[in-house]
Amino acid sequence: MPPIKFVKSPSVPLEMHKVRIVQKLTLLPIDERVAVNREAGNNAHLLKNEHVFLDMLTDSGVNAMSDRQLAAMMAADDAYAGSASFYKLEKKLQEIFGMEYFVPAHQGRACEHLLCELYLKPGQFVPMNHHFTTARAHILKKEGIVEELLLEEGWKPQSDCAFKGNIDLHKLRAFISEKGRDAIAFVRMEAGTNLIGGQPVSLENIQDVAQICKENGLKYVFDASLLADNLYFMKTREEPCKNMSIPDITRRICDCFDIIYFSARKLTCSRGGGMCFRHESDYTKIRELTPLYEGFSTYGGISVREIEAMTIGLEESMDEDMISQGPIFIEEMTRLLTDKGVPMVTPAGGLGVHIDCSQFLPHVPPLQYPGAAVACALYLVAGIRGTERGTLSEDRDENGNEVTAKMELLRLALPRRVFTLSQIHYAVDRILWLHENRELIGGLQFTQEPSVLRFFFGKLEPIGDWQDKLVEKFKEDFGDSL
Ligand SMILES: Cc1ncc(COP(=O)(O)O)c(C=O)c1O
Repeated sequence: MPPIKFVKSPSVPLEMHKVRIVQKLTLLPIDERVAVNREAGNNAHLLKNEHVFLDMLTDSGVNAMSDRQLAAMMAADDAYAGSASFYKLEKKLQEIFGMEYFVPAHQGRACEHLLCELYLKPGQFVPMNHHFTTARAHILKKEGIVEELLLEEGWKPQSDCAFKGNIDLHKLRAFISEKGRDAIAFVRMEAGTNLIGGQPVSLENIQDVAQICKENGLKYVFDASLLADNLYFMKTREEPCKNMSIPDITRRICDCFDIIYFSARKLTCSRGGGMCFRHESDYTKIRELTPLYEGFSTYGGISVREIEAMTIGLEESMDEDMISQGPIFIEEMTRLLTDKGVPMVTPAGGLGVHIDCSQFLPHVPPLQYPGAAVACALYLVAGIRGTERGTLSEDRDENGNEVTAKMELLRLALPRRVFTLSQIHYAVDRILWLHENRELIGGLQFTQEPSVLRFFFGKLEPIGDWQDKLVEKFKEDFGDSL
């Protein structure tokens, strides 16, 4: 939060921007919400956006863009090959990440695809702090094995550990000596660890892991999709970073890695993605694959307008006022909820607020998807959509058995610079009401279950008539309010 004091009232997070383009929202009456939710198979991904009041599904591709980004998009250079927009972005990445080589790709998962295609052999391991859904899906598709070596503290929803996204160095060393270097394709570190509550990794941990990779001749890969939030946490929570500028911290991070990839839908508030390389040999190999899957290497499947927006977005992600907005709103919303006893992931991380649904709904077992149940309930009573991050987001194993997640979370993403504090207060009000009425919420079961990334397209139904009872209670308590 910028150092601006309030004298007559308690401080609240203060935006260092003003809103100049707006989009109208509607909140459907509750009976219509019931109908569209049923049609969407109780899956927030299958709701139409026009039926959603506050879209907290994700921060991906829905962050607010700046006036500078929109202006730059108008001056993009359209060319199949050699676009000036590409060279501007390449130069900006060289300046900020300090890596010479860059290949654009249409989004983050496309980079994961190319990485696995090239560096992963069947049966090889990819040690990491924590998986992201698409990263794991690509690793499994190539018959690789994900090995999560997260600090134990990272698995605890409530903790006072400032960097719950860190890799446990002892586990990493033991793993390498047990399996041997050749069994490992590369080591993956994810900034702002998405699936465990947007929890950051420390600069120190990134550097220590780099040393271990170097000692063992292992390729070290960074998923920088959530770098902006992570930079804010390093700057505010990690002692040696407190006196460093954001570009300095960024450079220290990047100096550790062989390859950095990112989803620009997150990092630069635009669309697109890309990969930066320290070594020419890696760059040449990936560049050869790009025309096959993405497009020519100076557009990589991205519109040149978005490439212009990426360049400006990257530059803006070096501004502390800009990158603090997400985390300070998330912290405030988390505080408002924890103060009233709602179980939340703490410390508050990046990306969004995370409700700990195993504690919110202790009576709903993991195989009835408590995170998804709270997500549905919240849509019904508030028109807000979030994403389950728990057992539903896991796919079944190779024998068809369910894999229970270590945490059952509902993530309410706060796309950067999109929501106002009054909208946050509305969301808090409805979550508090749901928490008071949590006994009414029951579980869900699949009616259609895809085999891969089932949370995207799967359809579910409530077990029993709990949704009718919840809606009845809502009407009793809220009268004619939407
Ligand atoms: C940490 C992380 N890595 C990779 C991705 C995939 O990026 P994209 O959605 O652009 O494919 C995401 C997207 O949410 C992410 O959060």
